[in-house]
Amino acid sequence: MEDHKDVLVTREYEFARNVSPLLISEDPTGQWCHGVAGTIWDSSFVLARYLEKSLQTPCLTDQSRILELGAGLGLVGIAIAKLLPNAYIVLTDKPERLQLLQHNVQANDSSAQVAGYDWDTDYSDIDDQQWDAVIISDCIWEHSLHDSLLKALEKVVHTSSKLIMAYEQRNDVTEQQFFDKFHSTFDSRIASSTEMDDEYQSDDIKIIIAHRK
Ligand SMILES: C[S@@+](CC[C@H](N)C(=O)[O-])C[C@H]1O[C@@H](n2cnc3c(N)ncnc32)[C@H](O)[C@@H]1O
Repeated sequence: MEDHKDVLVTREYEFARNVSPLLISEDPTGQWCHGVAGTIWDSSFVLARYLEKSLQTPCLTDQSRILELGAGLGLVGIAIAKLLPNAYIVLTDKPERLQLLQHNVQANDSSAQVAGYDWDTDYSDIDDQQWDAVIISDCIWEHSLHDSLLKALEKVVHTSSKLIMAYEQRNDVTEQQFFDKFHSTFDSRIASSTEMDDEYQSDDIKIIIAHRK
């Protein structure tokens, strides 16, 4: 993959506080990873800044165990790991889509771990671990993946875990179908605009904070 480095486009992510910016590489050509995992999706900027603003809640401390699902290029998880360097943070995506995620973790000297985790896999040791927070950015964009994602959430979100999920509103009907199923297992609320970063928010990007019923 060294040969493909010249196709990468690097974007800078700035923190609200005085921390050196992240440099996250994207792959517009799809040579490093397949399609959706090669781009930073807008929800992840909003979620990263939301998490930065909500640091030191009980589930987001330097002792927390934090799992990211569908991490893509890793912006959210790498950002939170920079702010909580002693937390145990695992960024996951489909096993065949980890190469650029791993590259971004290393390029930013991040303490985050990278692991393959496919929502459709029957069993993974990720399921056995106790997570204080499970974070997800823009993973309900595709209706056909909803049941797989819900199955994974039921495995990794325990009664003591908090689920923090950002998504961009694109299709009211399919999103409502997702949340109808979601609410059979989880209670949730939508983060208010005052909880979000003043600059990084948008009317069509929502942050859901949920826990098991
Ligand atoms: C729309 S992208 C969002 C990526 C990233 N979270 C962001 O906001 O920039 C959705 C992500 O879900 C991942 N994904 C899709 N199906 C998956 C599955 N079955 N198991 C694990 N991850 C999956 C994709 O590889 C991709 O990284």
